[in-house]
Order: sequence, then structure tokens, then C-alpha cells
Amino acid sequence: MNLVLKIIKLFPPEAAHSIALYSLKILYQLRLINIFFPKLHDEELEVFGMTFANRLGTAAGLDKNGDFIDCIGALGFGFVEVGTVTPKAQLGNKKPRVFRILKEKAIINRLGFNNKGVDYLVKRLKKRTFRGIVGVNIGANKTSDGQKRIDDYIECFNKVENYADYITVNISSPNTPGLRDLHSSDNLKKLIGAIDKVIKISGYKKSIFLKISPDENKESINEIIQIINNSFFTGLIISNTSIDKKILKDKKYHTYEGGLSGKPIMNKSTELLNLIYSNDPSIPLIGVGGVMNNKDFQDKINSGAQLVQLYTGFVVKGPKIVADILKE
Ligand SMILES: Cc1cc2nc3c(=O)[nH]c(=O)nc-3n(C[C@H](O)[C@H](O)[C@H](O)COP(=O)(O)O)c2cc1C
Repeated sequence: MNLVLKIIKLFPPEAAHSIALYSLKILYQLRLINIFFPKLHDEELEVFGMTFANRLGTAAGLDKNGDFIDCIGALGFGFVEVGTVTPKAQLGNKKPRVFRILKEKAIINRLGFNNKGVDYLVKRLKKRTFRGIVGVNIGANKTSDGQKRIDDYIECFNKVENYADYITVNISSPNTPGLRDLHSSDNLKKLIGAIDKVIKISGYKKSIFLKISPDENKESINEIIQIINNSFFTGLIISNTSIDKKILKDKKYHTYEGGLSGKPIMNKSTELLNLIYSNDPSIPLIGVGGVMNNKDFQDKINSGAQLVQLYTGFVVKGPKIVADILKE
């Protein structure tokens, strides 16, 4: 399997990603996936009112369209977060837009929410057989701004609410111009007001998370804590990718546009997790950013996360990362 992973890594990043996921899908369809990647015995736990097979899940972006829920789930993840999905299908930014810096166990991406649109994702959600928890991460189309951007979140929310175990409101992708402006309290209040109306009408009772950037400063953290405590949000996902590429050793990448993920953001995102947890331990937290092994996983939990997600670790280490993290 190591050889297969090495060969896949020879392809350009996006092609490698597709080849890897379609290979897993074939293994899953042939019922061979657990021969290659044995699943550990589950120890079910209750978190945020949901039953999880374990605390490890995939972060948004790995399966943007829900095409691989069953095969990813079969690897032993306790939960899968799909998306980010937007109302309309969109191609995303110009290629190349994903850069693997394998020496530093990192990725820079500026994909820009390429996805097949919310209607497609809903079809995939209806067809899933994975029994674990599936969250849906929602966003806005690139061409939407102002009120239209808020309407995009509402459209996605309305369409996925019956098919998602939880919903993540993503305001922290650095690759959709203006999206991070939603972090500013006025814009966030408008978005919250709009979602609040929808919840009141539909009677939605499942969990809703806000996914934030690791580049937040101390002032905005206090605002975010207040917002979580005074709104329908269940808790926070900390964090998305960082726009600070200067933490990479290889200077060549310092000027690359896009969000940085993987090992270099482990400290930064865990520090933010810790800071929020120490300010208010009652806030439910999902930790993500830089998890490469069991120690990183435990660090996130020791810093206040009840659940942990990963993306870049899966690219760097392949599917065996699930067992490596959970077996210890
Ligand atoms: C190629 C790529 C695409 C991503 N796409 C999304 C996305 O669509 N929505 C989102 O909320 N986060 C997205 N992310 C961010 C991840 O979900 C995660 O928050 C971040 O990568 C930090 O975790 P990691 O270090 O384990 O990768 C993406 C990350 C990568 C590397």
C-alpha cells in the first residue's frame, strides 16, 4: 500500500486526490477496503447529542460533493464532514490551485469552493449507506456578495437540513473574496439573524457549528465566544486554513496565495482552541489543523476538543492514518 501511495503522490495534487478517492471507492465496492485498511472496534460515545463511533472525522474539503461518504466512512472515521457546498455549482479558481509541500507535511490551496452545487450533494446524501455521523459544511457562491451571500447560506441550509446530522457554517475560507468579512460582528449578526429565522420556521433542532479561521486576534475571539453563547450555534470548529504562509520553512511558498494546512498550522490552531477553551470551557469544540498522529489528536483533545478532524494528514499518510491515530 505504501508503494501505491508513493505512486499516487507522483501525480499533480488534484489528480492524485481523485485517483486516491476513486481507488478507495473501487475497493469499497469490491468489499476489499477493510482487508487493506482493517477497521478498529468502535467504542460508541455521545457527543453534542449525537452518537459517534469514535472522535475522529474528516474535515470539509476532502469530499466536497458527497461522492465518497461510504468509502471514507468504511475506513473507520467516526464522522464525515462533506462540502463546502454552495447553492450553484462552480468551478473554483484557475489551476494550479493546490500545492503539496510534503517535506513540511503541508498543503497550500486556493481552490475557491469548487463543487457541484447543493442539489447534487443532497442526492448523494440521500444515497449514503454510511451509518456514522455526516455533517454538511455550507458556504456562498463566489459571485454572491452582500445580502445575496447571506441568502446563499440560507438556501444551502434549507436544502440540507433534513439530510445532515449537523451543519457547519463556514465563514473562514480565505479563497472566496470577501467571505472572511463575515467574521466582522455586524456581518455575522446579519447572517445569524437570517439563519435564526429559518430555524424558527423549520423547527431545526440538530447541531450547528461555526468554522473559524486560525488567524483570529484576541479581540475577535471574545466576540466569537459571545456570539456562540447568545445564538443557536452549538459550538466552534477550530480551525480552517491559515493565510500566514511565513510559518513554512521553505521561503519559496511565503508569497503563494491561498490557505495553509497541515503540520505547520498545528500549533497555531491548537493554541486558538486552547485559548477559547480556557476562556469558556462550556463551548463545544471540534479541533482541526495539523493532525498527523495520535499525539496531535490527543493534544487537540487535551486543549478542549471533544471531536477532531483532519484533511492534510490523510493526504500525507494515506488511509492508514485512521488506525494509527485510533489504535493507541
Ligand atoms: C485542498 C483543501 C481543500 C479544503 N476545502 C475546504 C472547504 O471546502 N471547506 C472548509 O471548511 N475547509 C476546507 N479545507 C480546510 C480543512 O477542512 C481544514 O480545516 C484545514 O485543512 C486544517 O486541517 P488539516 O491541517 O488537517 O488539513 C480545505 C483544506 C484543503 C487542504
